[in-house]
Amino acid sequence: MHNKAANSRFISKTPYASSLIVHVRELHANHKEQILNHLLLLNEDDRRLRFGTQTSNEVIERHVERLDFTQDKVFGHFDALLNLAGIAHLAYLPIANEQSEAAEFGVSVLPNGRGQGIGTALLARASVHARNTGVKTLFVHCLANNKTMMHIARKAGMHVELAYGDADAHLRLLPANHSTIVEEATNSQWANFDYVVKANWKRTKDAWCWILGKPLPSST
Ligand SMILES: CC(C)(COP(=O)(O)OP(=O)(O)OC[C@H]1O[C@@H](n2cnc3c(N)ncnc32)[C@H](O)[C@@H]1OP(=O)(O)O)[C@@H](O)C(=O)NCCC(=O)NCCS
Repeated sequence: MHNKAANSRFISKTPYASSLIVHVRELHANHKEQILNHLLLLNEDDRRLRFGTQTSNEVIERHVERLDFTQDKVFGHFDALLNLAGIAHLAYLPIANEQSEAAEFGVSVLPNGRGQGIGTALLARASVHARNTGVKTLFVHCLANNKTMMHIARKAGMHVELAYGDADAHLRLLPANHSTIVEEATNSQWANFDYVVKANWKRTKDAWCWILGKPLPSST
């Protein structure tokens, strides 16, 4: 969990503002369609920042199709309307016949959800998971003009090195302990609870819209 709004006087009128704490859920293969929709909503610049190169719809479709949810982990933050506002991919770097000791983190947040702690919360959640699964080094590769990502990485204690238009950040992770395991389990339960609350609210809202025959006025 990451509480950005509590430290900020900024109150946004986007749907994300209703959630003061940024909950992060683990995603599975049944979320593929939502993951694809999220990535396809990124514009050309954001796709370049996320994947390091020009990325067409076809490449994104193949990327999502090939996501391996048993080997890697994918995390997401759902907004009040259950859209995937942010996604993080934790890819374990392969080592033959051994447990991977390194992982790479990639993240994207939709434009109207930015600046509210979602990217930071996804990095925090992925770092704890990496630590709890024996990862010793977490990498983030980003373009050198990606000031926001570098800021988030530095804030998380990552060491950022710039070279030839790219920035590589890495974080040495301490071994898991009792509190990191409890932290991950607790965050996971809160995120599931948050999702159920949002789903119930959405169902109620949809039902009222159906009864009234028009959308409910926005609360913001
Ligand atoms: C990078 C990205 C994930 C950040 O998501 P986000 O939800 O806006 O991130 P957060 O709200 O947690 O944090 C943003 C931080 O960057 C800071 N920031 C914003 N613009 C900045 C800039 N130009 N320079 C430095 N810092 C900046 C914000 O002030 C905030 O810092 P704070 O929490 O200390 O106040 C999002 O911008 C994105 O999806 N970009 C496109 C894809 C991408 O770049 N992915 C990263 C490479 S894998």
